[in-house]
Amino acid sequence: MAKAFDFGVERLAGMGVGMGGGESETPEGTRPSSIEIAGMARSSASPLQGRVRTFFLETFGCQMNEHDSEKVAGVLLARGYRQVEKPEAASVVLYNTCSIREKAAQKVFSRLGEYRTTKKEGQIIGVLGCVAQQEGEEIFARAPWVSLVCGSASYRKLPQMIAQLEAGNTRVTGLDTDTDETFETEMTRRDNPWRAYLTIIEGCDKACSYCVVPFTRGPERSRGSESILREVKELADLGYTEVQLLGQTVNSYVDPTPASSGRKMRFSELLVAVAEVAGIRRVRFTTSHPRDFGSDIVQAIESLPAICNHVHLPVQSGSTAVLRAMQRTYTRDEYLEKIAMIRAAKRAISVTTDIIVGFPGETENDFADTLRLMEEVRYDGAFTFKYSPRPNTPSLKMADAIPEEEKSRRLAILMEKQRGIQAELNAARVGKRFELLVGGKSRRENQWSGHTTDHKVVNFTSRRQELLGDYVQVEVKSAGENSLVGEEVEGRLQSIVYS
Ligand code: 5AD
Ligand code: SF4
Repeated sequence: MAKAFDFGVERLAGMGVGMGGGESETPEGTRPSSIEIAGMARSSASPLQGRVRTFFLETFGCQMNEHDSEKVAGVLLARGYRQVEKPEAASVVLYNTCSIREKAAQKVFSRLGEYRTTKKEGQIIGVLGCVAQQEGEEIFARAPWVSLVCGSASYRKLPQMIAQLEAGNTRVTGLDTDTDETFETEMTRRDNPWRAYLTIIEGCDKACSYCVVPFTRGPERSRGSESILREVKELADLGYTEVQLLGQTVNSYVDPTPASSGRKMRFSELLVAVAEVAGIRRVRFTTSHPRDFGSDIVQAIESLPAICNHVHLPVQSGSTAVLRAMQRTYTRDEYLEKIAMIRAAKRAISVTTDIIVGFPGETENDFADTLRLMEEVRYDGAFTFKYSPRPNTPSLKMADAIPEEEKSRRLAILMEKQRGIQAELNAARVGKRFELLVGGKSRRENQWSGHTTDHKVVNFTSRRQELLGDYVQVEVKSAGENSLVGEEVEGRLQSIVYS
């Protein structure tokens, strides 16, 4: 079964294996990326030897952070820096951080603590991302060896900030969030040669009472559709076949193109336009907010097989009372109406979600409502979290905190329920054929891994060599709660079989 696989080529990001497995590996989780980058510069030289300009960049958190890091790397590479794999070999060490839950933020400080004694003279240690934005100059007090603190809305200024430090300044910060710019770069150093991430909307204008994102990433700014489509065409020319459109609330996209200079696109129209770019075979998008999820998106998925039949639609709670306290702007019934609309589509669409347990005031009945909702929806995957009180958020001061042990108990029940649902849904796939984009190769011969269009990971065997980046047909032979195992079906590719 899946345990036999040990993938070293590509990180298996996203849904699939591991879904429902608890408080980690999340879209906005705390997983440091540690992939092998083809052709990436390697160096063991001292950072200061001959003033070699090198950088090390480690990323924590969500796909937005991963992609921001790709852009940061692109900006530095374009300015003559070389990327190295070990912090001790770098003149600039950068951590792109996550503060969505307390555990994630703590991890960053423990990583920074490693530099208390090991920082080399002249080495620049910088904190980027959500912890930078949230803690600001406090970071200098907690970790005085840090000299650069920069939130995501200020990444454009990063090269100037590093230049200031190289010119002798001891500390620089970039903490503005009142920018209407998105972080577009001339060059993005993409980690994956087949799937390209593309941010189409940054920040968040929702105000969920538990969430730091509106503080750490600032207000929503959408990128113009023309510029998005230009980049997608460039990506297709470079050989990318899958594009994933990113945003905290991706479907709240509002095209800033002025009416005078082009066609303003709705999010669903943008999906279609991206899918119609020659060479693009798959378009994904994440994360969708239920309130802004309309039937036009379902129609787009129905009309074009290139638009992937997977929607990540966080519900957070199955209780209307808790949803109200969370300021999610929809009720349980309104959410279930969206699910009914998705389920009524002509093409099967897989649905995944995020759920928080132990929000202040969550009663046993509220929790039971969440369990019932899970039974009703039968999610293909769920990222489940214990509520974590965060600075600056309205829920921080709410009464009726749920004790930690009770949160753990509820989380365990939730995960058990989800595991059962996933095992049944996966078992129903045995004997069926799927088209996969191959993204991983096992160290074991003939063993590979890929994603279906609805974002399931399938580990499979094939007698062929060199499958990375190819689309193959696979028949599922067995299934567990977290994995599917299959064999390549020889012969000509057909269109997607699962529908
Ligand atoms: N505590 C627990 N989970 C949280 N999330 C966001 N903020 C918190 C918090 N304070 C979860 C939500 C969100 C996912 C990315 O992280 O479920 O959808
Ligand atoms: Fe946070 Fe809510 Fe915005 Fe999602 S929609 S990023 S949970 S504030």
